[in-house]
Amino acid sequence: MKIIGIACSGLERSVSLKMIQAFLKGAAEAGCETELFVINQDLLGCTGCKGCKNKDSFCVRQDVLTQYFAKLPEADAVILGFGIYMGYPQGEAWTFMNRHYCLHKGFVGGACKIAPGKKLYCMVAQGAPDNPEYQAHCDALLKPFDGWGFDRQPVLVASGATAQEKIQEAYELGQKVCG
Ligand SMILES: Cc1cc2nc3c(=O)[nH]c(=O)nc-3n(C[C@H](O)[C@H](O)[C@H](O)COP(=O)(O)O)c2cc1C
Repeated sequence: MKIIGIACSGLERSVSLKMIQAFLKGAAEAGCETELFVINQDLLGCTGCKGCKNKDSFCVRQDVLTQYFAKLPEADAVILGFGIYMGYPQGEAWTFMNRHYCLHKGFVGGACKIAPGKKLYCMVAQGAPDNPEYQAHCDALLKPFDGWGFDRQPVLVASGATAQEKIQEAYELGQKVCG
């Protein structure tokens, strides 16, 4: 199996990054091929240029996601990690989601350019204990991935106090997914 990690935070102390790294470590040890993209430094937004609609290409913007979209068709799973800022997934996560607009042939609702069934795992870090409002906001972010054929898996949430435990859980999940 091939697994791609997408980290919205590149901070050394980032809990969501550590969760993704732990997942990928577990997955690699169990025999999966893994790759991590840390997207916060070099991420461009969708401009609605429709370059992806004029030809059968993915997004025409050249940035950290160019390699991601090149590898996505062969991937079996994507692990997305982000922090909660002001009660919502941080901005990079929304930009990452928006850029998948390029996966529709034609416009929203059009057929998808990638095969369905890729698993989408999500690693969320926040300061506060788990909160139904944050969960609803994460769900709003992740729902569009259903339309691109992703198979959403339960979201793993680390609050300040549970970070170590959740990093370990992410490691074990990676092992299990590839075991
Ligand atoms: C600008 C900003 C806003 C934040 N807002 C919230 C918030 O509304 N609720 C919360 O629980 N934590 C909030 N936090 C704390 C982060 O969610 C927490 O530090 C988390 O670990 C960040 O993810 P990371 O460690 O992967 O970078 C905020 C942090 C920052 C920097």
